[in-house]
Amino acid sequence: MQEFSGRTAVITGGASGIGLGLAEHCAQLGMNVVLGDIQKDALDQAVETVERRQADVIGVVTDTMMKSSVQNLLAEATAAFGNVHLVFNNAGVAAGNSAGKAVWEAPDDDWQWVMGVNFYGVLYGVQTFIPHMLAHGEESYVVNTASLAAVMPMGGSYGVSKHGVLALTEGIQSDLEQRDANVRAGVLCPGFVDTQIFAAERNRPGADQPHIDSDDPQFEIAKAMLANGKSPEEIAAYVFDAMAAEQFYMLPHPAWDEFVRSRTEQILARQGVATMDMMAMLERSAKGEQF
Ligand SMILES: NC(=O)c1ccc[n+]([C@@H]2O[C@H](COP(=O)([O-])OP(=O)(O)OC[C@H]3O[C@@H](n4cnc5c(N)ncnc54)[C@H](O)[C@@H]3O)[C@@H](O)[C@H]2O)c1
Repeated sequence: MQEFSGRTAVITGGASGIGLGLAEHCAQLGMNVVLGDIQKDALDQAVETVERRQADVIGVVTDTMMKSSVQNLLAEATAAFGNVHLVFNNAGVAAGNSAGKAVWEAPDDDWQWVMGVNFYGVLYGVQTFIPHMLAHGEESYVVNTASLAAVMPMGGSYGVSKHGVLALTEGIQSDLEQRDANVRAGVLCPGFVDTQIFAAERNRPGADQPHIDSDDPQFEIAKAMLANGKSPEEIAAYVFDAMAAEQFYMLPHPAWDEFVRSRTEQILARQGVATMDMMAMLERSAKGEQF
């Protein structure tokens, strides 16, 4: 996809981080922008931020865990701007409660919440927007945000949800090609990006208080690595270049390639699981290497 001006983009999780970076990039390219997000105050601010770029923008309070809410996002987008051409199924969360816990120790409600937003939220976006794109027939693109966690051995709710997004998106692209559709799919697998995801608990359903255990060393490691990560603007620029090149696998952090390669080699060698040494990565990160 090369032509963006005058077309319409919908971005879930558009009020913060990577989603807001994508929204600002869409605005810069002259697109109409629809932001869907669960956090109303951040959404209102994000609409103002994008408006400052002279874009036509609306914000729609959306909970991607609920299919009806995603369907409402499409209805609001088409009512405001007509056909939708670009969808970023991007909203995502990580459970602070599960940090440092073994797979079998993580609470059920962490699994339900993380799978609900990260996997089902993307699935609902696909089920809602792709039929709309196929029906209008104009060139369109769907980009699902997974993570490098999708190609690493990460068995917690976050890793499992992201492996699911990768598999889902591979299936979508194959189905679109078989139908010779004027729609493409891509999967975004970033390493660390400087966003608010370390405080994702702020949007956990029904939580009066965020369950963030800021004394947990893993929380501090994650926060430090995010702060040293790429900026949302860099990710957005990378994604638009990748769409122009019709690249399916979007991996903006080449420093991780060695981990991806070593996992693939372990599988093909029928060996044990290649575990990640987070502390070694943190040390490398402290020396200025970007993960
Ligand atoms: N930051 C990173 O290092 C990183 C790395 C790899 C992948 N990702 C992925 O990038 C995506 C964006 O995350 P981010 O890092 O920008 O975090 P962020 O917390 O800054 O932004 C996430 C946005 O999603 C919204 N959101 C949360 N639950 C929602 C729901 N149920 N419905 C609608 N919106 C909801 C939040 O309100 C927030 O505005 C996520 O899918 C995340 O897993 C992030």
